[in-house]
Amino acid sequence: MIIVTGATGALNGATVDHLLERVEPATIGVSVRDPERARHLADRGIRVRRGSYDDPAALRHSFADAEQVLLVSSSDLDADVVNQHRTAIEAATEAGAQRILYTSAHGTGFDSPYAPLAIHAATEEHLAASSVPWIALRNGFYGDLSQLLGPWQKTGAIAKPADGPFSWVDRRDAAEAAATILTSDSSFDGPVDLTLSSPVTLTDFAATASELTGDHIDRIIVDDEEWVASETANGVPETVARFTLSMFQATRSGHFAQSDRTLRSLLGREPRSIADQLADQIVG
Ligand SMILES: NC(=O)c1ccc[n+]([C@@H]2O[C@H](COP(=O)([O-])OP(=O)(O)OC[C@H]3O[C@@H](n4cnc5c(N)ncnc54)[C@H](OP(=O)(O)O)[C@@H]3O)[C@@H](O)[C@H]2O)c1
Repeated sequence: MIIVTGATGALNGATVDHLLERVEPATIGVSVRDPERARHLADRGIRVRRGSYDDPAALRHSFADAEQVLLVSSSDLDADVVNQHRTAIEAATEAGAQRILYTSAHGTGFDSPYAPLAIHAATEEHLAASSVPWIALRNGFYGDLSQLLGPWQKTGAIAKPADGPFSWVDRRDAAEAAATILTSDSSFDGPVDLTLSSPVTLTDFAATASELTGDHIDRIIVDDEEWVASETANGVPETVARFTLSMFQATRSGHFAQSDRTLRSLLGREPRSIADQLADQIVG
Protein backbone atom coordinates (compact mmCIF):
# COMPACT_ATOMS: atom_id res chain seq x y z
CA MET A 1 0.00 0.00 0.00
CA ILE A 2 0.89 3.64 -0.37
CA ILE A 3 0.32 5.35 2.99
CA VAL A 4 -0.11 9.12 3.02
CA THR A 5 0.09 11.31 6.13
CA GLY A 6 -1.32 14.83 6.25
CA ALA A 7 -4.15 13.75 3.94
CA THR A 8 -6.53 16.12 5.73
CA GLY A 9 -4.15 18.97 4.87
CA ALA A 10 -3.93 20.97 1.66
CA LEU A 11 -0.83 19.45 0.04
CA ASN A 12 -1.33 15.77 0.72
CA GLY A 13 -5.11 16.03 0.34
CA ALA A 14 -4.31 16.99 -3.24
CA THR A 15 -1.69 14.23 -3.46
CA VAL A 16 -4.35 11.65 -2.57
CA ASP A 17 -6.63 13.10 -5.27
CA HIS A 18 -3.84 12.58 -7.80
CA LEU A 19 -3.15 9.07 -6.50
CA LEU A 20 -6.80 8.18 -7.05
CA GLU A 21 -6.34 9.02 -10.73
CA ARG A 22 -3.44 6.56 -10.92
CA VAL A 23 -4.07 3.56 -8.65
CA GLU A 24 -6.95 1.63 -7.09
CA PRO A 25 -8.33 3.17 -3.87
CA ALA A 26 -7.75 -0.12 -2.02
CA THR A 27 -4.00 0.34 -2.50
CA ILE A 28 -4.04 3.72 -0.70
CA GLY A 29 -4.13 4.26 3.06
CA VAL A 30 -4.16 7.52 4.95
CA SER A 31 -2.81 8.17 8.42
CA VAL A 32 -4.66 11.16 9.83
CA ARG A 33 -5.07 12.79 13.21
CA ASP A 34 -8.83 12.99 12.89
CA PRO A 35 -10.41 10.17 10.83
CA GLU A 36 -13.77 12.01 10.85
CA ARG A 37 -12.19 14.61 8.59
CA ALA A 38 -11.17 11.86 6.15
CA ARG A 39 -14.64 10.38 5.81
CA HIS A 40 -14.77 11.45 2.15
CA LEU A 41 -11.67 9.30 1.53
CA ALA A 42 -13.11 6.26 3.35
CA ASP A 43 -16.23 6.68 1.20
CA ARG A 44 -14.04 6.31 -1.89
CA GLY A 45 -12.53 3.04 -0.62
CA ILE A 46 -9.32 4.35 0.91
CA ARG A 47 -8.18 2.84 4.21
CA VAL A 48 -8.39 5.51 6.90
CA ARG A 49 -6.57 5.03 10.20
CA ARG A 50 -5.77 7.42 13.00
CA GLY A 51 -2.15 8.41 13.21
CA SER A 52 -0.27 11.23 14.86
CA TYR A 53 3.43 12.01 15.00
CA ASP A 54 2.91 12.27 18.76
CA ASP A 55 1.62 8.69 19.09
CA PRO A 56 4.11 6.04 17.83
CA ALA A 57 1.75 3.09 18.44
CA ALA A 58 -1.08 4.66 16.44
CA LEU A 59 1.39 5.60 13.70
CA ARG A 60 2.64 2.01 13.41
CA HIS A 61 -0.95 0.77 13.19
CA SER A 62 -1.80 3.31 10.51
CA PHE A 63 1.37 2.41 8.55
CA ALA A 64 0.67 -1.37 8.54
CA ASP A 65 1.06 -3.00 5.09
CA ALA A 66 2.98 0.00 3.79
CA GLU A 67 5.22 -0.39 0.79
CA GLN A 68 5.72 3.35 0.70
CA VAL A 69 4.94 6.04 3.24
CA LEU A 70 4.64 9.72 2.36
CA LEU A 71 5.41 11.82 5.44
CA VAL A 72 4.13 15.38 5.51
CA SER A 73 6.35 17.86 7.32
CA SER A 74 4.59 18.73 10.54
CA SER A 75 2.79 22.04 10.82
CA ASP A 76 2.77 21.80 14.60
CA LEU A 77 4.61 25.02 15.49
CA ASP A 78 4.73 24.40 19.24
CA ALA A 79 6.16 20.87 19.00
CA ASP A 80 9.66 19.45 18.69
CA VAL A 81 9.07 18.92 15.00
CA VAL A 82 12.34 17.15 14.22
CA ASN A 83 11.56 14.63 16.95
CA GLN A 84 8.06 14.17 15.51
CA HIS A 85 9.56 13.47 12.11
CA ARG A 86 12.05 11.02 13.61
CA THR A 87 9.17 9.20 15.33
CA ALA A 88 7.37 8.96 11.99
CA ILE A 89 10.48 7.70 10.16
CA GLU A 90 10.98 5.03 12.83
CA ALA A 91 7.33 3.97 12.64
CA ALA A 92 7.51 3.68 8.85
CA THR A 93 10.68 1.62 9.14
CA GLU A 94 9.14 -0.67 11.77
CA ALA A 95 6.04 -1.09 9.60
CA GLY A 96 8.28 -2.51 6.88
CA ALA A 97 8.03 0.35 4.38
CA GLN A 98 10.40 -0.10 1.45
CA ARG A 99 10.53 3.59 0.66
CA ILE A 100 9.86 6.75 2.66
CA LEU A 101 9.04 10.06 1.02
CA TYR A 102 9.10 13.32 2.95
CA THR A 103 7.80 16.78 2.00
CA SER A 104 10.94 18.85 2.44
CA ALA A 105 11.72 22.29 1.02
CA HIS A 106 13.88 23.84 -1.65
CA GLY A 107 17.05 25.35 -0.21
CA THR A 108 17.12 22.99 2.76
CA GLY A 109 20.24 23.37 4.88
CA PHE A 110 21.46 24.41 8.30
CA ASP A 111 22.93 27.70 7.10
CA SER A 112 19.81 29.79 6.48
CA PRO A 113 18.01 32.45 8.51
CA TYR A 114 14.72 30.71 7.62
CA ALA A 115 14.19 28.21 10.47
CA PRO A 116 12.15 25.52 8.64
CA LEU A 117 15.12 24.78 6.42
CA ALA A 118 17.18 23.52 9.37
CA ILE A 119 14.23 21.36 10.47
CA HIS A 120 14.10 19.81 7.02
CA ALA A 121 17.89 19.36 7.00
CA ALA A 122 17.79 17.56 10.36
CA THR A 123 14.90 15.38 9.16
CA GLU A 124 16.78 14.49 6.00
CA GLU A 125 19.71 13.44 8.20
CA HIS A 126 17.39 11.08 10.08
CA LEU A 127 16.13 9.70 6.78
CA ALA A 128 19.69 9.15 5.59
CA ALA A 129 20.49 7.34 8.84
CA SER A 130 17.50 5.02 8.47
CA SER A 131 17.84 1.67 6.76
CA VAL A 132 15.12 2.47 4.23
CA PRO A 133 15.48 4.13 0.79
CA TRP A 134 14.07 7.67 0.97
CA ILE A 135 13.22 10.68 -1.13
CA ALA A 136 12.98 14.25 0.11
CA LEU A 137 10.57 16.23 -2.04
CA ARG A 138 12.23 19.62 -1.81
CA ASN A 139 9.26 21.72 -2.87
CA GLY A 140 9.62 25.36 -3.82
CA PHE A 141 7.69 27.88 -1.76
CA TYR A 142 3.93 27.72 -2.16
CA GLY A 143 0.86 29.03 -0.38
CA ASP A 144 -1.48 31.96 -0.26
CA LEU A 145 -0.38 34.62 -2.76
CA SER A 146 -2.13 37.35 -0.80
CA GLN A 147 0.16 36.59 2.12
CA LEU A 148 3.24 36.70 -0.06
CA LEU A 149 2.32 39.85 -1.98
CA GLY A 150 0.02 41.78 0.35
CA PRO A 151 -3.04 43.72 -0.84
CA TRP A 152 -1.49 44.75 -4.19
CA GLN A 153 -4.85 44.68 -5.97
CA LYS A 154 -6.08 47.49 -3.70
CA THR A 155 -2.86 49.45 -3.29
CA GLY A 156 -1.28 49.02 -6.73
CA ALA A 157 2.01 48.02 -5.09
CA ILE A 158 3.83 45.02 -3.68
CA ALA A 159 5.35 46.61 -0.59
CA LYS A 160 7.58 44.06 1.11
CA PRO A 161 11.15 43.77 2.41
CA ALA A 162 13.93 43.25 -0.12
CA ASP A 163 13.96 39.78 -1.62
CA GLY A 164 16.08 37.63 -3.89
CA PRO A 165 15.34 34.89 -6.42
CA PHE A 166 13.17 32.00 -5.31
CA SER A 167 10.74 29.47 -6.70
CA TRP A 168 7.01 29.90 -6.13
CA VAL A 169 5.23 26.75 -7.19
CA ASP A 170 1.57 25.90 -7.32
CA ARG A 171 0.77 23.49 -4.48
CA ARG A 172 -1.31 21.41 -6.91
CA ASP A 173 1.80 20.82 -9.01
CA ALA A 174 3.81 19.73 -5.97
CA ALA A 175 1.02 17.28 -5.09
CA GLU A 176 0.87 15.92 -8.63
CA ALA A 177 4.64 15.40 -8.68
CA ALA A 178 4.49 13.50 -5.38
CA ALA A 179 1.75 11.22 -6.71
CA THR A 180 3.74 10.63 -9.91
CA ILE A 181 6.86 9.61 -7.98
CA LEU A 182 4.82 7.36 -5.66
CA THR A 183 3.30 5.51 -8.60
CA SER A 184 6.26 5.26 -10.96
CA ASP A 185 9.44 3.22 -10.96
CA SER A 186 11.46 6.38 -10.53
CA SER A 187 15.11 6.12 -9.69
CA PHE A 188 15.04 9.10 -7.32
CA ASP A 189 17.16 8.59 -4.27
CA GLY A 190 17.58 11.29 -1.60
CA PRO A 191 16.70 14.95 -2.14
CA VAL A 192 14.95 16.11 -5.31
CA ASP A 193 14.35 19.80 -6.05
CA LEU A 194 10.81 20.54 -7.27
CA THR A 195 10.92 24.12 -8.48
CA LEU A 196 9.89 26.40 -11.29
CA SER A 197 12.13 26.11 -14.34
CA SER A 198 13.56 29.55 -13.47
CA PRO A 199 13.42 31.46 -10.20
CA VAL A 200 11.40 34.66 -9.71
CA THR A 201 11.51 37.77 -7.54
CA LEU A 202 8.82 40.08 -6.23
CA THR A 203 9.82 42.46 -9.03
CA ASP A 204 8.80 39.72 -11.47
CA PHE A 205 5.48 39.37 -9.65
CA ALA A 206 4.91 43.13 -9.96
CA ALA A 207 5.77 43.11 -13.68
CA THR A 208 3.53 40.12 -14.33
CA ALA A 209 0.68 41.61 -12.31
CA SER A 210 1.07 44.82 -14.36
CA GLU A 211 0.80 42.85 -17.61
CA LEU A 212 -2.23 40.90 -16.43
CA THR A 213 -4.16 43.90 -15.10
CA GLY A 214 -3.00 46.56 -17.55
CA ASP A 215 -2.22 48.79 -14.55
CA HIS A 216 1.24 49.63 -13.29
CA ILE A 217 1.91 47.60 -10.15
CA ASP A 218 4.86 48.96 -8.23
CA ARG A 219 7.44 46.97 -6.29
CA ILE A 220 8.24 48.97 -3.17
CA ILE A 221 11.08 47.78 -0.97
CA VAL A 222 10.32 48.40 2.69
CA ASP A 223 13.07 48.53 5.30
CA ASP A 224 13.05 45.31 7.39
CA GLU A 225 12.37 46.93 10.75
CA GLU A 226 9.82 49.36 9.33
CA TRP A 227 8.02 46.40 7.79
CA VAL A 228 7.96 44.46 11.08
CA ALA A 229 6.67 47.59 12.84
CA SER A 230 3.87 48.05 10.29
CA GLU A 231 2.88 44.39 10.50
CA THR A 232 2.70 44.45 14.30
CA ALA A 233 0.76 47.73 14.16
CA ASN A 234 -1.76 45.82 12.01
CA GLY A 235 -2.11 43.14 14.68
CA VAL A 236 0.34 40.54 13.36
CA PRO A 237 2.27 38.96 16.26
CA GLU A 238 5.91 40.06 16.13
CA THR A 239 7.14 36.44 16.05
CA VAL A 240 5.03 35.81 12.96
CA ALA A 241 6.27 39.01 11.26
CA ARG A 242 9.89 38.13 12.03
CA PHE A 243 9.38 34.58 10.76
CA THR A 244 8.10 35.95 7.44
CA LEU A 245 10.92 38.49 7.34
CA SER A 246 13.43 35.64 7.73
CA MET A 247 12.06 34.10 4.54
CA PHE A 248 12.74 37.30 2.58
CA GLN A 249 16.18 37.53 4.17
CA ALA A 250 16.92 33.94 3.14
CA THR A 251 15.95 34.64 -0.46
CA ARG A 252 18.44 37.52 -0.53
CA SER A 253 21.29 35.13 0.27
CA GLY A 254 20.78 33.35 -3.04
CA HIS A 255 19.75 30.19 -1.21
CA PHE A 256 16.84 29.60 -3.58
CA ALA A 257 18.36 30.90 -6.80
CA GLN A 258 18.91 27.49 -8.35
CA SER A 259 16.17 25.89 -10.33
CA ASP A 260 15.70 22.42 -11.61
CA ARG A 261 13.64 20.88 -14.41
CA THR A 262 12.59 17.75 -12.52
CA LEU A 263 9.16 19.17 -11.68
CA ARG A 264 8.61 19.97 -15.32
CA SER A 265 9.59 16.47 -16.39
CA LEU A 266 7.40 14.81 -13.75
CA LEU A 267 4.39 16.88 -14.81
CA GLY A 268 5.09 16.50 -18.54
CA ARG A 269 4.47 20.24 -18.92
CA GLU A 270 5.75 23.50 -17.51
CA PRO A 271 4.79 23.94 -13.85
CA ARG A 272 2.06 26.56 -13.37
CA SER A 273 3.88 29.88 -13.72
CA ILE A 274 3.50 32.96 -11.55
CA ALA A 275 1.35 34.40 -14.36
CA ASP A 276 -0.98 31.39 -14.09
CA GLN A 277 -1.11 31.72 -10.33
CA LEU A 278 -1.66 35.50 -10.37
CA ALA A 279 -4.43 35.02 -12.94
CA ASP A 280 -6.11 32.59 -10.53
CA GLN A 281 -5.77 35.13 -7.74
CA ILE A 282 -7.27 37.91 -9.87
CA VAL A 283 -10.25 35.74 -10.87
CA GLY A 284 -10.67 34.20 -7.41
N1 LIG B 1 7.19 24.76 0.83
C1 LIG B 1 6.39 25.68 1.34
O1 LIG B 1 6.38 26.84 0.94
C2 LIG B 1 5.43 25.31 2.41
C3 LIG B 1 4.32 26.14 2.65
C4 LIG B 1 3.42 25.78 3.64
C5 LIG B 1 3.66 24.65 4.38
N2 LIG B 1 4.75 23.88 4.15
C6 LIG B 1 5.02 22.63 4.91
O2 LIG B 1 4.42 21.60 4.16
C7 LIG B 1 3.47 20.90 4.97
C8 LIG B 1 2.24 20.58 4.14
O3 LIG B 1 1.69 21.78 3.66
P1 LIG B 1 0.13 22.00 3.61
O4 LIG B 1 -0.09 23.16 2.72
O5 LIG B 1 -0.57 20.73 3.31
O6 LIG B 1 -0.18 22.41 5.12
P2 LIG B 1 -1.49 22.06 5.97
O7 LIG B 1 -2.72 22.18 5.13
O8 LIG B 1 -1.40 22.90 7.21
O9 LIG B 1 -1.30 20.53 6.34
C9 LIG B 1 -0.41 20.09 7.31
C10 LIG B 1 -0.75 18.65 7.61
O10 LIG B 1 0.18 18.15 8.59
C11 LIG B 1 -0.57 17.40 9.52
N3 LIG B 1 0.11 17.37 10.80
C12 LIG B 1 0.52 18.42 11.53
N4 LIG B 1 1.04 18.00 12.68
C13 LIG B 1 0.95 16.64 12.69
C14 LIG B 1 1.27 15.63 13.62
N5 LIG B 1 1.80 15.93 14.83
N6 LIG B 1 1.05 14.34 13.29
C15 LIG B 1 0.51 14.02 12.09
N7 LIG B 1 0.15 14.94 11.17
C16 LIG B 1 0.35 16.24 11.48
C17 LIG B 1 -1.88 18.15 9.65
O11 LIG B 1 -2.86 17.29 10.21
P3 LIG B 1 -4.36 17.84 10.48
O12 LIG B 1 -5.05 17.79 9.13
O13 LIG B 1 -4.90 16.86 11.46
O14 LIG B 1 -4.24 19.23 11.00
C18 LIG B 1 -2.17 18.51 8.20
O15 LIG B 1 -2.84 17.47 7.54
C19 LIG B 1 3.17 21.83 6.15
O16 LIG B 1 2.87 21.05 7.30
C20 LIG B 1 4.45 22.60 6.31
O17 LIG B 1 5.39 21.89 7.13
C21 LIG B 1 5.63 24.17 3.17
